[in-house]
Amino acid sequence: MTPKSKARGLWASRMGFILAASGSAIGLGNIWKFPYITGQNGGGAFVLVYLACIVVIGLPIMLSEFTLGRKTQLNPVGAFKKLAPGSTWTLVGFMGVVAGFLILSFYGVVGGWTLAYIVKSVSGASVHFGSPKEAGEFFGTFIANPVEITLYHFLFMALCVGVVIKGVHGGIEKACDILMPTLLLILFLLMIRSLTLDGAMEGVSFYLKPDFSKISPQVILIALGQAFFSLSLGMGAMLTYGSYLPEEENLLSATLYVVLFDTMIALLVGMVIFPAVFAMGMEPAEGPSLVFSVLPAVFSQMPKGNVVSIVFFVLLLIAALTSGISLLEVVVAYFIDEKGWPRKKAVLVMGSIIFVMGVPSGLSFGIWADVKLFGMNFFDHADNIASNYLLPLGGMLTAIFVGYIWGTDAAQSEIEKHETEFHWVKAWSFIIRYIAPVAVALVFLAKFFK
Ligand code: PFF
Repeated sequence: MTPKSKARGLWASRMGFILAASGSAIGLGNIWKFPYITGQNGGGAFVLVYLACIVVIGLPIMLSEFTLGRKTQLNPVGAFKKLAPGSTWTLVGFMGVVAGFLILSFYGVVGGWTLAYIVKSVSGASVHFGSPKEAGEFFGTFIANPVEITLYHFLFMALCVGVVIKGVHGGIEKACDILMPTLLLILFLLMIRSLTLDGAMEGVSFYLKPDFSKISPQVILIALGQAFFSLSLGMGAMLTYGSYLPEEENLLSATLYVVLFDTMIALLVGMVIFPAVFAMGMEPAEGPSLVFSVLPAVFSQMPKGNVVSIVFFVLLLIAALTSGISLLEVVVAYFIDEKGWPRKKAVLVMGSIIFVMGVPSGLSFGIWADVKLFGMNFFDHADNIASNYLLPLGGMLTAIFVGYIWGTDAAQSEIEKHETEFHWVKAWSFIIRYIAPVAVALVFLAKFFK
């Protein structure tokens, strides 16, 4: 261990790292976003495109990010600077920091919704619906209330700040250890409840039977953006987490575990949501409110529904927090490493700025709902710019950097440290050099010239 890495703090255990990286990956992206964009983009066919993006592009890029991080032991900007001094590649790292700002600004808003639903489940207000329509109206009234929304958004950001101030394993690692397995368990129980509702099978077929006529360049771009978003790729979050890794860690198995956990959770959530959506006669393309209206309607019909609701939203909050933390950590690590700020200052100042930046997104469903540019409100723009453009672009440039500038041979020797056997090195180099950058570029081109 170099003195430098000691000063930055390292993960305490191998499992701690995998859980923390999974904690970053698994979040609102899996539980709130994946079902609603699957619903908006045609169901089964979207799921297939998404899975292809995960395997072909997400997995190799995640390995690249972990490798860059562990090699340099630095934040994204510092990492590119170290491996390609004096070049413009640092801009890629910088773009990641910007994406972190932007994503956390709207992510914090949805985190706030989650927090509010814990409180509303405790009081029983959000689990007494006769129909999903009622649940939807309740949610609509809630997100239109500027004071309530901003208050919960603030609280969520304060929680993120509280954990990140404590640093890598004091806060981040400990928080992930027990919570991720509990989340899996409750999702299983909910899936059983959902699948046994009358009319559930129609939802299963919407979700699993692909209708290929629904695939368009726009749908592919969204699936690709979601793959990056869900795996926390393209902005250096995984690079930053990898930078706290000791050399003996096997990067290959860590990558496989994280991708597997993240994908499993997303797929499982779909099996909870879509059967319920169809059983209750709801519209799968409802948008961001989907999970917040269908699940409370399901909970309302369950014995002890309020308890299940509390447990569910507590876990969703934790999943959101462990991801929010990683977003904030990218920004904070940059100010600590590159600007020499103390951790506390970096966290407090950046946390506050990101909160303020997110306020317009929070108001996008109420008093600022009509403030639109190109038909989209603040919230949609923040999400669209970050997820559908910055992340895929960041991922593409990371692949080009590892493939051609730093070089796959150098990356390979970092991956193979401590006698790790890298059996699929040829496939990985090929993907990183030729497939991933070209695929992302083609998706962008198809989108612009359609
Ligand atoms: N992967 C997180 C989720 O699915 O909710 C969101 C996220 C976290 C995106 C960290 C990007 C990131 F760097």
